[in-house]
Amino acid sequence: MARRRQIYEGKAKILYEGPEPGTLIQYFKDDATAFNAQKRGTISGKGVLNNRISEHIFTALGAIGVPTHFIRRLNMREQLIRQVEIIPIEVVIRNVAAGSLSKRLGIEEGTQLPRTIIEYYYKDDALGDPLIADEHIACFGWATQEEMNDIADMAIRVNDFMCGMFAAIGIRLVDFKLEFGRVWDGDYARVILADEISPDGCRLWDLKSNEKLDKDRFRLDLGNVAEAYQEIARRLGLMPEGEEANSVLDFDSHRKKRGR
Ligand code: TMP
Repeated sequence: MARRRQIYEGKAKILYEGPEPGTLIQYFKDDATAFNAQKRGTISGKGVLNNRISEHIFTALGAIGVPTHFIRRLNMREQLIRQVEIIPIEVVIRNVAAGSLSKRLGIEEGTQLPRTIIEYYYKDDALGDPLIADEHIACFGWATQEEMNDIADMAIRVNDFMCGMFAAIGIRLVDFKLEFGRVWDGDYARVILADEISPDGCRLWDLKSNEKLDKDRFRLDLGNVAEAYQEIARRLGLMPEGEEANSVLDFDSHRKKRGR
């Protein structure tokens, strides 16, 4: 098979040229980083699980009318997506205090917020993705006011949907990160949801025990990291039960051993 042209390699994913113009292939790695890549590791099987979990969520969001880059899953680790011009802003939606919000403002982790907060961070690794205000976005032209209105509207819709989806499987959606991109139709640009939605970029706590079932297990060295991602996939109905569950991940490791 002809080698595909690699377009971009990030910390957890690789983008390859797609089969048609305007498409890309998004490949999910097992690599994990935290604290702006100061901490590095691998979470065995993560790429397979995130590919499935993100497919599931993007498909459901598409079905309620949120435009996304997702076209279809191709195999265990890859999905076909629309090529977008990524808007260099990480959109963080918070329902419960945790992580950098708790640290910055001294609010106890786990405090239910009286209203949902949307924060923006400038996507720049060299600067450590700093928190920014609307004013910076407008001043430096990272997105137009109209685009920011669309982004905020979509973020709230995604949050409402995901809060319900996770509550139904006994999980509290504490916070999560979204990324958006532009697609061009002649001179007209439209903003759609891009990147991924997976336990890498969400805080997901068990409703009863408050157990963390997301990348904080890796960030904070809590152990059982892969198991937490599997538990999310299992509760979403994406894992075959029992023995078959292991074979989903084994299949992938066999492929790796054969050097594919
Ligand atoms: P924070 O509390 O560290 O700011 O993170 C808020 C949410 O955003 C959390 O669910 C993890 C996610 N996130 C990312 O996906 N990528 C990042 O680089 C950071 C810092 C956070």
